[in-house]
Amino acid sequence: MQYRKLGNSDLEVSEIALGSWLTYGVGVEADQARACLDEAFDQGINFIDTANVYGRGAAERFLGQALQGRPRDSYILAIKLFFPMSETDRGLSAGQVEKQLDASLERLRTDHVDLYQCHRYDADTPLEETMHALTRAIDSGKTRYIGFSEWPADKIKAAIDMAGVARFVSSQPQYSLVWRAPEDDVIPLCAANGISQIVWSPLGQGVLSGKYDPDRPPPRDSRAASQEMGGFMDRLMQPDLLRAVQELKPIADDAGLTLPQFALAWVLREPNVAAAIIGASRPEQVRENAAASGAIVDTRLFERAEAIIDRALATEPA
Ligand SMILES: NC(=O)c1ccc[n+]([C@@H]2O[C@H](COP(=O)([O-])OP(=O)(O)OC[C@H]3O[C@@H](n4cnc5c(N)ncnc54)[C@H](OP(=O)(O)O)[C@@H]3O)[C@@H](O)[C@H]2O)c1
Repeated sequence: MQYRKLGNSDLEVSEIALGSWLTYGVGVEADQARACLDEAFDQGINFIDTANVYGRGAAERFLGQALQGRPRDSYILAIKLFFPMSETDRGLSAGQVEKQLDASLERLRTDHVDLYQCHRYDADTPLEETMHALTRAIDSGKTRYIGFSEWPADKIKAAIDMAGVARFVSSQPQYSLVWRAPEDDVIPLCAANGISQIVWSPLGQGVLSGKYDPDRPPPRDSRAASQEMGGFMDRLMQPDLLRAVQELKPIADDAGLTLPQFALAWVLREPNVAAAIIGASRPEQVRENAAASGAIVDTRLFERAEAIIDRALATEPA
């Protein structure tokens, strides 16, 4: 496993990080989830991403239990707040920044996290209020660094330009061969300001593994077939896109990689990406995906893959 510096922080994060959206505490049963986590550590993964809203606390509770017994300084823990935790608890007000951090720490059974991320931008709270609250969270020692997820570029810029507050070190956008939006504004802005990308759904929720045959129902043990986990895949499960992904298999072969490894290596080709945050429903996936770290791929293979996917996305139904 190779490691990259997270923005202007002193954190060295593994290029492959392990996430917990939909999976741990929710769709993947506890023994299997624990096996994934153990495999991650065996593979040198040191970066764990979660959020208060994943299973409304269930993912954090799972991690709090499963991480007991591992030295706290042997892993880097990233959490998020913003989405509703109750009828009244949501957003990025000063009160919520403090309250949700304390609640996450309790579920995670630790006294600090390494990265406290704003899961989205909160248009109902002045940015100054959020930034000062995040700064106090760092001063309190409850988080070491702060980040954001899916903020628009103008809000990122406003935070960068604000005086007297802590600096963001990470941005968490969706980024993959099938979702390249961050390349327009977010990556250049962040790269110029000491902010790394830690990217979500780098495998397009598993679509970029090539396991979805456009002419067959999804495999029964896959996310797309899962009642609990498959609800966010409509945009991805389009026949034209699934067919295009099949065309990537010989290209990955030429690179000497499996298709999931090729898709992860594509994400990691971008120097502003510090880590690809994968999901995994079984330990074999963690092992396969971790091996993408350090892969060296001829850029012409990436260009061929991009052309195939871009063509399929251009024909997407509106
Ligand atoms: N900031 C945000 O708004 C946001 C949003 C979403 C996610 N995230 C973060 O990003 C993390 C990753 O998101 P994601 O789970 O969508 O990522 P992903 O890596 O694109 O998809 C993960 C899923 O793909 C399948 N898979 C993984 N490796 C595979 C392999 N080698 N072969 C075949 N199938 C494989 C597994 O599902 P099955 O085996 O069940 O098919 C796995 O659960 C989340 O856990 C979360 O921490 C953040």
